[in-house]
Amino acid sequence: MTLTLKIIIGSTRPGRIGPSVARWVEDRAVAHGKFAIDIIDLADLKLPFLDEPAHPAMQKYEHAHTKRWSEIVGSADAFIFVTPEYDYFAPASLVNAIQTLLKEWAYKPAGVVSYGGISGGLRAAQVLRQLLGNVNVHALPQTVPVPMVRQFLGENGVFEGNEIMNDGLTAQLNEIHKWATALKTIR
Ligand SMILES: Cc1cc2nc3c(=O)[nH]c(=O)nc-3n(C[C@H](O)[C@H](O)[C@H](O)COP(=O)(O)O)c2cc1C
Repeated sequence: MTLTLKIIIGSTRPGRIGPSVARWVEDRAVAHGKFAIDIIDLADLKLPFLDEPAHPAMQKYEHAHTKRWSEIVGSADAFIFVTPEYDYFAPASLVNAIQTLLKEWAYKPAGVVSYGGISGGLRAAQVLRQLLGNVNVHALPQTVPVPMVRQFLGENGVFEGNEIMNDGLTAQLNEIHKWATALKTIR
């Protein structure tokens, strides 16, 4: 059974480094070999701040952007959120994207790869995990923090994780696979 893993880039600002980190996650996830993988860039989706009149639980979406987002999340078996830390928090773009939907998230596991300065984005990861739990996602404890993220960007802008990050991501992928396999049976 092939499970679909969606890697979600949480930052949307011009010049962001989120896509570089996400490409590293994608490479490791492909090498892991057990998932069909999609990268989802919130900057491409251009979700407005909540503009649907009905509560997301109703799934009565009026707008094409919400229907598209619903299909993307609904067809996933698992997620990795690649998130920066803004003001010790997860970015508003990502919080908004999560709150736009509800049932599409349920009974699916998620890992978080966070990045930032010395904190490695861990404070953002913790609030994000709390929000994910509230929409019925199993947010794994195995977060992969990337401290001083710019030090891991080559001159070409390509992100290269060190051994600790690579091993952490492999451990996270193993856990995601276990949970995704189990949770699929109850959806
Ligand atoms: C609005 C804003 C707030 C930030 N707050 C934090 C922070 O609380 N902790 C931190 O480690 N870095 C913080 N930074 C620095 C980010 O880690 C750095 O800019 C990183 O590149 C952001 O990810 P992005 O390039 O994908 O947007 C902040 C950056 C911005 C733009």
